[in-house]
Amino acid sequence: MPNHSPTPLQASRPTAPLGGRSTVPGDKSISHRALMLGALAVGETRIGGLLEGEDVARTAAAMRALGAEVWRDAPGAWRVAGRGIGGLLEPEDVLDMGNSGTAARLLAGILASHPMFSVLSGDASLRARPMRRVMTPLAACGARFTARAGDRLPLAIEGARDALPLAYRLPVASAQVKSAVLLAGLNAPGLTIVEEPEASRDHSENMLRHFGAEVRVETLGRGRRITLTGQPELRAADVTVPGDPSSAAFPLVAALLVADSAIDLIGIGLNPLRAGLFETLREMGAEIEILHPRIEGGESVGDLQVRSGPLRGIDVPPERAPSMIDEYPILAVAAACAEGSTRLRGLGELRVKESDRLAATATLLKAAGCAVEVIDDDLLVHGTGRPPAGGARVATRLDHRIAMAALVLGLATSAPVGIDDARCIDTSFPDFLGLMRGLGASIAPG
Ligand code: S3P
Repeated sequence: MPNHSPTPLQASRPTAPLGGRSTVPGDKSISHRALMLGALAVGETRIGGLLEGEDVARTAAAMRALGAEVWRDAPGAWRVAGRGIGGLLEPEDVLDMGNSGTAARLLAGILASHPMFSVLSGDASLRARPMRRVMTPLAACGARFTARAGDRLPLAIEGARDALPLAYRLPVASAQVKSAVLLAGLNAPGLTIVEEPEASRDHSENMLRHFGAEVRVETLGRGRRITLTGQPELRAADVTVPGDPSSAAFPLVAALLVADSAIDLIGIGLNPLRAGLFETLREMGAEIEILHPRIEGGESVGDLQVRSGPLRGIDVPPERAPSMIDEYPILAVAAACAEGSTRLRGLGELRVKESDRLAATATLLKAAGCAVEVIDDDLLVHGTGRPPAGGARVATRLDHRIAMAALVLGLATSAPVGIDDARCIDTSFPDFLGLMRGLGASIAPG
């Protein structure tokens, strides 16, 4: 049953260190892609470790609305019977993608090259996010788009009857836009080519290959050129979803900040294009060990051993942003407790996430008593070597990562930090509360 009333929560400094071993929910990016490619493949795809958060549930519902069969056999264990490329059915109703930009943009790619009519919409946060970034490249395959206010959801899509292959150079690094173009290219003849100025997460490329598509990747300076051969026969494939490094980031930073903590996070995805936070925290002096590195389902995975300790401020270069784009709010929380200033550079893309995360992160830290500045696209956090005072209550603005970052901050500050509504956390991290409490965190209603 959906919960219709706000759920305020408050975090306070625990009386004992955090400790224990835990897994985290499955990777959100990989979960969306597994359901989508499963629906486009011929045969039955089995998925293990699927994230059972709100965002992924929207993708599962959308794939069902497009004619795929999707079953949940056990927690995290799902099956998809695909319809084959070009075989999706016209949906009878609006596809409601909830809070998920990834679901909306990737699906726009699939729908653009299927000859049918569809409408995408979402919650107030998603309806405020720009869609032009996918409409522009996808229109070149022959799809027609009509969007509210020019580039906002609801977005009506008339998919191309005989889609043309695409060739597109991304103006900014965006795995969502790259993936939308590649997914559209699946139902077009010939080669679809995407160039990205900086390498962004490559889960689509990896999974397309895993399902039998031909994908060539060339290095272009710091970026890449990806070439997909269109109209492959995608074959159903089993997918194992690793623990989401973007979710692991929250208990990880909590363990760094609460004195004498020691935790282990098991089975965390360590794709190098997602690992910017670990690298950055280590530069700040964090003790994070990677144990048992292994490959599972084509992705790098390992166990993280985290020990608390002092952090120092550093300068984080803009080119690192794509590898940690979702981690800036929690990194800023770590920086607020570090000794000296940290400059996080090149955060323009944060303004168009689930909320304006640049503003929301600055507001959170200021409310807790930390000195911060936003200079152009940079966030400057002035740490004093001790956690800020806390004693704040912040609005989460339908943004799960702001909600979790605020609660982790409250575990370090002398006075509690509260949030107005925790429900958005379910989009990416169901049972965040249970997991954090299991490690010893004090987070209570109020
Ligand atoms: C994602 C890409 C990123 C990220 C989002 C997930 C993906 O967005 O912020 O949470 O799964 O492709 P952008 O492509 O807009 O940077």
